[in-house]
Amino acid sequence: SMAEKHFKYIALGGGVSGGYAAREFAKQGVQPGELAIISKEAVAPYERPALSKAYLFPEGTARLPGFHVCVGSGGERLVPDWYKEKGIELILSTEIVKADLSSKSLTSASGEIFKYDNLVIATGSTVIKLSDFGVQGADAKNIFYLREIDDADKLVEAIKTKKNGKVVLVGGGYIGLELSAAMRVNDLDVTMVYPEPWCMPRLFTADIAKFYEGYYTNKGVKIIKGTVAAGFSSHDNGEVKEVQLKDGRVLAADIVVVGVGGRPLTALFKGQVAEEKGGIKTDGFFKTSVPDVYAVGDVATFPLKLYGELRRVEHVDHARKSAEQAVKAIKASEEGKAVEEYDYLPYFYSRAFDLSWQFYGDNVGDAVLFGDNDPASSPHKFGSYWIKDGKVVGAFLESGTPEENKAIAKVARVQPPADSLEQLSKEGLTFASKI
Ligand code: FDA
Ligand code: NAD
Repeated sequence: SMAEKHFKYIALGGGVSGGYAAREFAKQGVQPGELAIISKEAVAPYERPALSKAYLFPEGTARLPGFHVCVGSGGERLVPDWYKEKGIELILSTEIVKADLSSKSLTSASGEIFKYDNLVIATGSTVIKLSDFGVQGADAKNIFYLREIDDADKLVEAIKTKKNGKVVLVGGGYIGLELSAAMRVNDLDVTMVYPEPWCMPRLFTADIAKFYEGYYTNKGVKIIKGTVAAGFSSHDNGEVKEVQLKDGRVLAADIVVVGVGGRPLTALFKGQVAEEKGGIKTDGFFKTSVPDVYAVGDVATFPLKLYGELRRVEHVDHARKSAEQAVKAIKASEEGKAVEEYDYLPYFYSRAFDLSWQFYGDNVGDAVLFGDNDPASSPHKFGSYWIKDGKVVGAFLESGTPEENKAIAKVARVQPPADSLEQLSKEGLTFASKI
């Protein structure tokens, strides 16, 4: 029978959280042989955001080992040798297909069994597929999704073989906006399709979206709103040929990229652990309802102290910080010590073309725009505040300097009162710089 391996700590998932957990374990003095990172990917943990940005660029291209964690936050780059030196076992190309939390064991697709004393669930998200809701022809060749490095490699190959070809981007969220830019930079002909009245509706106001839609249009990206991809036709060789839209229009396509959202990977633990809001429920130390089991990153639904509610966050900054918090909590509890409860300020960002925005806090209440959001003018400095119950609770800024970004982060954390929306709009960044 298959060998059984035992570890004091296992991180299940070798993505952003898995990698940052490894670094924190090392900082806390983990002993050789105590920790294993198990990942179905073939490579050591890396900064996933690179996949939709520099990984796809024709110039200044990012490739491993260049973007292993923790370079994305200015930290040490953990190449495979780093894990060897620390005695941390990196168990790659290994998919766990069964988890039994009562017997503390994980089983891989090839039947290996891994036992643990403490488990950190860091399985992240997977993509929602068009075939999940029965879109016809969605299994044609050259219809791509982007989550892992293998997906990115397939896209890079398609960009090479379909030079000057037509790309249809399905979805107007993060993947839609970052990938349509990356495809344009590769000189492909790009059309975006999304159902909502404006892009990134989860975060952007109409005023914010107006800037990006105008800017993208000026860069040659065509935008079709208010409809969805209803079906695909293919060539005889199986490659995608056309995208049929629900409104009846038909678009020729050599490449289709789909970004219609993510789904947290919690299925392994269904019925074994408390869930909430689609994720695994944790406390402010990322402890789940099961003793010795923690959940971090995209899969964790945790108390967001600042807003007094449970939230799930699918962004890299939280993936890093939640992993560090969980490991600190594990080590502290072993020593009978305590760590402070997680007190997270939501931070999201994106980069595309020569644009770069940051958002901090909560996008609830009334929004006011400040600065110049005309895509034709330069230097594209504009932003938005969100005001709830007379307090500024969220702030967005395009093309901010590091100091300006720091200032809006502080606003979102401090939540200063604001009496008049007009005044706030007029003051813009001056308001933030005074906090
Ligand atoms: P992550 O997805 O990083 O890691 C999970 C790992 O677990 C993967 O390696 C997976 O293979 C593995 N795994 C899952 N199930 C397994 C199993 N059963 N057995 C073995 N291994 C298993 N955020 C942001 O703030 N700014 C940005 O610019 C971007 N950009 C961006 C681009 C792209 C293309 C994506 C897909 C995502 C982003 N994000 C982002 C989001 C950010 O990357 C994401 O929130 C974090 O990677 C989440 O970290 P986790 O460790 O939770 O999951
Ligand atoms: P998303 O939730 O950001 O956007 C999904 C979009 O899909 C919606 O805005 C909508 O426009 C569109 N949509 C939904 N159903 C559709 C349909 N049937 N047809 C056409 N469009 C449809 O998700 P995503 O862009 O796919 O990103 C996936 C994950 O990766 C998320 O967790 C996201 O946070 C993460 N990510 C983050 C960043 C970043 O933070 N900069 C970058 C890339 C990816």
